[in-house]
Amino acid sequence: MIKSCSVDKPANILDVVNQKLFIELNTAHDEYIKCCNYYEWYYSIAKRVNPKSYFEIGVRLGYSMGVVISASPNMEYVEGWDNESYTPNSIQMAEKNIRDTVITDKITLNLLHKDSQLEKTPPSGFFDLVHIDGDHRPEGVYHDICLVMGCCRICMIDDYYNTDTAKGINKFIKDHSAIIKNSTTIDTVRGMCVLEF
Ligand SMILES: C[S@@+](CC[C@H](N)C(=O)[O-])C[C@H]1O[C@@H](n2cnc3c(N)ncnc32)[C@H](O)[C@@H]1O
Repeated sequence: MIKSCSVDKPANILDVVNQKLFIELNTAHDEYIKCCNYYEWYYSIAKRVNPKSYFEIGVRLGYSMGVVISASPNMEYVEGWDNESYTPNSIQMAEKNIRDTVITDKITLNLLHKDSQLEKTPPSGFFDLVHIDGDHRPEGVYHDICLVMGCCRICMIDDYYNTDTAKGINKFIKDHSAIIKNSTTIDTVRGMCVLEF
């Protein structure tokens, strides 16, 4: 399923998502926002999966979350966790940002200040799509995938080209091969691994 998602990939995320979502446009963050090989993949995967429910670890200001919401016309529930270690007050900023730019009345948005590494159980419910982009250390990413493996269908993990993150992802794949239906690597600017359970 994910292998074929490139057909839905927009040439430029700014053509398909409300540009006001990216409140740091025209700053150093253009490295991702304008590279045409990063948020475009989140958009295309969400288009292909068409999720009703989405969970993200590592929300920061809500860019990847807003992109997924924009590509998901049937979305009903979105939950996100962040320990706000990168940007103080980022949960509140992300909530305002998403509500101002991409949310629809149909969507329940639940953004929480949480350190995923301290959590032993995932959010309640089942998620059609998950995105892990929080703690990028091997043990951090391994923990986060373990947390969600029983409660999601498809899990995107960012930063596969970071050797630390790849170590955690590859260990997870090796240890849990029996429950992984498919794993795909996508050549985004940071590398992405997509697991299908
Ligand atoms: C790379 S940023 C996420 C960017 C976001 N996904 C996007 O593309 O717009 C990583 C985020 O993970 C958060 N983070 C780091 N470690 C975490 C942890 N243990 N639990 C929750 N969030 C964490 C950071 O505060 C930061 O906001």
